[in-house]
Formats: sequence, structure tokens, C-alpha cells
Amino acid sequence: MIDFSRGRKVKFYYNDKVIEAYEGESVLAALYAIGYRVFSYSPDGERPRGAFCMIGKCSSCLSMVNGVPNTRICIEPVREGLRVYSQKGFPEVPKVEEVVEAETIVLKPDVLVIGGGPAGLQASLTLAEYGLKVVLVDEHFKLGGQLVKQTHRFFGAKKFYGGIRGFNIASKLSREVMDNENIEVFLRAYAYGIFKNGYVGVAVRGEKPLNLLVRPKAIVAGVGASEKMIMFENNDLPGVMGAGGAQTLMNEYGIKPGERALVIGAGNVGLIIAYQLLQAGVKVHGIAEIMPKIGGWFVHAAKVRRYGVKIYTRHTITKAIGRDRVEKAEIAMVDEHFQPIPGSEKVFDTDLVLLAVGLQPNYAFFSQAGAVMKYIPELGGLVPLRTKYLETSVENLYVAGDASGIEEATTAFIEGEIAALSIAIKLGAGNNKTIKKREELLDYLWNEYRKSPVVMRACQGKLKATVSEEEMEKIRRGELDGI
Ligand SMILES: Cc1cc2nc3c(=O)[nH]c(=O)nc-3n(C[C@H](O)[C@H](O)[C@H](O)COP(=O)(O)OP(=O)(O)OC[C@H]3O[C@@H](n4cnc5c(N)ncnc54)[C@H](O)[C@@H]3O)c2cc1C
Ligand code: FES
Repeated sequence: MIDFSRGRKVKFYYNDKVIEAYEGESVLAALYAIGYRVFSYSPDGERPRGAFCMIGKCSSCLSMVNGVPNTRICIEPVREGLRVYSQKGFPEVPKVEEVVEAETIVLKPDVLVIGGGPAGLQASLTLAEYGLKVVLVDEHFKLGGQLVKQTHRFFGAKKFYGGIRGFNIASKLSREVMDNENIEVFLRAYAYGIFKNGYVGVAVRGEKPLNLLVRPKAIVAGVGASEKMIMFENNDLPGVMGAGGAQTLMNEYGIKPGERALVIGAGNVGLIIAYQLLQAGVKVHGIAEIMPKIGGWFVHAAKVRRYGVKIYTRHTITKAIGRDRVEKAEIAMVDEHFQPIPGSEKVFDTDLVLLAVGLQPNYAFFSQAGAVMKYIPELGGLVPLRTKYLETSVENLYVAGDASGIEEATTAFIEGEIAALSIAIKLGAGNNKTIKKREELLDYLWNEYRKSPVVMRACQGKLKATVSEEEMEKIRRGELDGI
């Protein structure tokens, strides 16, 4: 069972109105629970925007928090007395005398791990086992990444948490990380880039903001992925939300995201979210899928069909309709060029349009660092080239998890561990047993796990993104462009 027990009651202010909330909630979740749907406006102040990603990766919830503009309130925890204002148009720059200056702290750990999802947690624990000092930073106010909203039991080997529910894995690993004396954790801590002298800049939000300058010997960046958007009329209307956004509301905070939903995309995420909506008492009008066939597993499709949910293949969304929030949505059949066929439109009364149209790896950190990137459709977008040991073209910068190409949590654990073992070997903390362990993991990943037809496409993508160590050396010397 998910633990929805509430934290301590706190009061904060939203546009000067007193709001009651519970510790552990984000500001946005607390506001959503009592009916707020508009959280910001387009820069011209004309178009309302609602919750979309719920993980700090879009700009739908930028607000003024305790005088700081452009704060993403979906990853801002509620606190007693917090003052939050919605923004319309560009916010005012705070007065110099009101700005709390950040204290600069220099840290020199063995390894900096960026991201506290499955990849980052596993990497941190493995590095700590080898006695390496780790600094782990995550921009959210809690650890776990996307695991915290996964309610199902994981498939696969026990070693990779098979049989345990995602949110339980998240709390187990988070506790282990927090209790580990070799790991120092900074939450609400955003790694914004690498300076030329090798220092990584990390901005830590809070009552006492910090400017961390971290000089590690190696970095594991497990920075995850973001949900994709698609083009249609009014796609920014409040009520159009990423599937993961709705999962966050339902599975993390116990909040019903809407009353009547339409899901776009019949891959596994779309099918699973439709089922979870039904369980939460939301009416699901249907699932529109642009391809002629359902992309997800038959067993998930059968589950939602049993509830009478229709799956419209060869259909896409053409518009969301409403003034300040979604009131209706229109879908239409598409021709062989994926263009809507006039006259085939269907309109549904709905307050929620959930987009389950795929994820794209978060690539900003690698691009800024100067890593050689490659666009690989099978992996969801731009990813850094890497060796099989997950080292990128920037020496000592490793990639793991969804940031290396969209797969799933199990591969994120495995990649986090491979990156960590590779660093342990490189820094002289490992031994022959470490090398053997790494080879066994690589063998399991490539010759067993990725042989499953379900992950075949991602596997092909990962092959395209992986170069030999000799090729990587040439890429570093500029003798091979790798793209
Ligand atoms: C909506 C959704 C549903 C899913 N359902 C399933 C499922 O049912 N089964 C399954 O196996 N997999 C599922 N997955 C996939 C699985 O959750 C991911 O593959 C896995 O979480 C990836 O792990 P990760 O560590 O790479 O990234 P994440 O779990 O995304 O963690 C990345 C972390 O990095 C932090 N971060 C990002 N950028 C920065 C930065 N610059 N500075 C500091 N911190 C940063 C983020 O806050 C986040 O905590 C789902 C994913 C999503 C999005
Ligand atoms: S950044 Fe808050 S909803 Fe996307």
C-alpha cells in the first residue's frame, strides 16, 4: 500500500490567501488539491498555464516564492509562513537589498553524482561501498526520481528489486543513501554546468541559498528525462498534462487530477495511466493512438478495455477547447501521412487531456559540458556518445539511466552501477573482483536483459550511441567526429 499518511499541518500564503497544507507536499500539489488549476501565464500575460510535468522540467508553474521569481512550485516544498504569488507576464527583478546572498562553498569529493533517481542512487551506494566520498545533488526536495510514483511491483531479478513496488524501492534506497557516511546529499540543488577549471556549479535553493562549487575526480550524471509535448490547438491550456504529471498527483500525493479524462498515446505509459485513472475514480473517455496498432503490452490494453475504455487507433488530438481550462477535446482519424481526415472528428466533454507520447533524455548538462552528442530517435532524442563503460567524450563524465537514452528503471540501476564500478576501477579503489563484477553486469545487460523483444528498439539505439574506447580517444583528439 502507498503510504498517504499526512505530514504536519502547515499554513502558507498564496496571493495573500491562507492555504492549509501538509508537510511533504509540493506547493503546487497543495494548491491543486483545493481546486487551483492555473499556475502561471504566457510571457505576454494572455494565456493561462496549468500543471504539466510536475517534476520541474517545464515552465508551467513559475511563481514568486518568498520574493524569488521564476520558482517552480511543483518541486518547492510547503513550509509554514511561505509567501507564494502567481506570476503574470515577466516578473519584477527583486530589489538588491531584498536579495539573500548565496554563501559559496567549495567541495572536493571523489565523485559528484547528479540526480537522485534509480541511476544516481545506485551509483552513489556502489561508489560508497568502495570507500569513495560522494556528493549527491538533486533539484527536487526528495530523492527517488520517477520511482516515487511507480506503484507496481518490478519485474525481473531480485538483485534489481524484482517483486518490490517502485515507491518502496525509492524509500529503501533513499534511506540507505541518507544513512551512508560516505555520501553527502544536497536536495533542491540544481547542477547548472561545468566551468573550464573543472568545477561544477550547483545552485541550492532554500532559506539560506548556497552556491556549491564542486571539484570532483569524476561525475555520474543521471539527470533523467522529460515528457514530450505534441502540436495541437490550445496545447498549453490548463488541463493538458503529461501522464507523469498525473501520476505524481495521484500516486505521490493522493490527489485526483480531474473528473473526465482523454489519454493520448497507447504505449505502456498511456495504458497504465488510463488504468490508474479508473482506479482513482476518474472517467476515461478513451485513448487516442496515432499508429494503426497499440504500442503497449496486450495485458495492459486488455485491462482497460475490460472497463469499457475504447482505444481509438489511427487517431490524434486536434484541439483542446476551453477558456481558462480544458472543457472539451477533439480527436480525429488520420490518413497514411498522419494528417487529420476532415469530417472524422469526435468531441469529448473532458477536463483532462493526458499526453503519454514519450520521453526525451535531459541533455542540457552534457551539451553545456561539451560532450559529443548524437540524435538517436530510438532513445528519445539527443544523448551523449559513450563507451560501454558509460564514459562520455568529456573525460571522467559518465552518463547513466534515462539521460543515456530512454529505457526503464531496471536499466537505470544497472547503468548507475556500471558507471560507479568503472569510476572505482579508474580511481584505483577497485580490484580484479570489481572488473569481474562489471563484466558480469555488462553481460547481463547486453546479452540477457536487452535481448527481450520489449526493449529491442532501445537496445538498437544504445548500440548506436556506444563507441569503443579507441574510437572515443579519436573523438576526443578530434580525429573522428562520432556524429
Ligand atoms: C511517467 C513515467 C512513468 C514510468 N513508468 C515506469 C514503469 O512503470 N516501469 C519502469 O521500469 N520504468 C518506468 N518509467 C521509467 C523509469 O522511471 C525511468 O527509466 C527511471 O526512473 C530513470 O531513472 P533515472 O535515474 O535515469 O532518472 P529519474 O528517475 O528521472 O531521476 C533523475 C533525477 O535527476 C534530477 N535532476 C535532473 N536534472 C538535474 C540537475 N541538473 N541537477 C540536479 N538534479 C537533477 C531529477 O530531479 C530526478 O530526481 C517511467 C518514467 C516516467 C517519467
Ligand atoms: S515545472 Fe512545474 S509543472 Fe512543469
